[in-house]
Amino acid sequence: MTKRIALSSDHAAIELRQAIAKHITELGYEAVDIGPTTPESTHYPKHGQAAAELVASGDCDLGIILCGTGQGIMMAANKVKGIRCGVCSDSFSARMIRMHNNANMLSIGARVVGEGLALDIVDAYLSAEFEGGRHATRVDMIEAD
Ligand code: RB5
Repeated sequence: MTKRIALSSDHAAIELRQAIAKHITELGYEAVDIGPTTPESTHYPKHGQAAAELVASGDCDLGIILCGTGQGIMMAANKVKGIRCGVCSDSFSARMIRMHNNANMLSIGARVVGEGLALDIVDAYLSAEFEGGRHATRVDMIEAD
């Protein structure tokens, strides 16, 4: 079944988010891009939360969110129960947050990385699989109330 990937950003990352949406669509994923599409200044917490809720509810399989640094929108997403989101500026970390942390969301800083690296980070994240085993024990500890 086609994997559905939630996408959102603030105003600082619209172009990069749209480039990522195009890229993952070409790879065969379904990009569920919830915007915004216009460049006015907006507030990253609401966009991070909205994408996180799509993932936490099961509507989307994974999420990719962006703001200027990737940090603020990641913090907002991680407040939604069941979300594990990491900011990545390198492909190794992007692979490892899937393999070891079972991260269901990836955050990228549009003012930190260029488009070429961002697309490589996305590829590394989407193509990795959770290893389970001892890592599952640790992820369960994160998820415990
Ligand atoms: C917006 O200027 C900027 O603060 C935001 O995109 C992000 O970097 C916050 O973490």
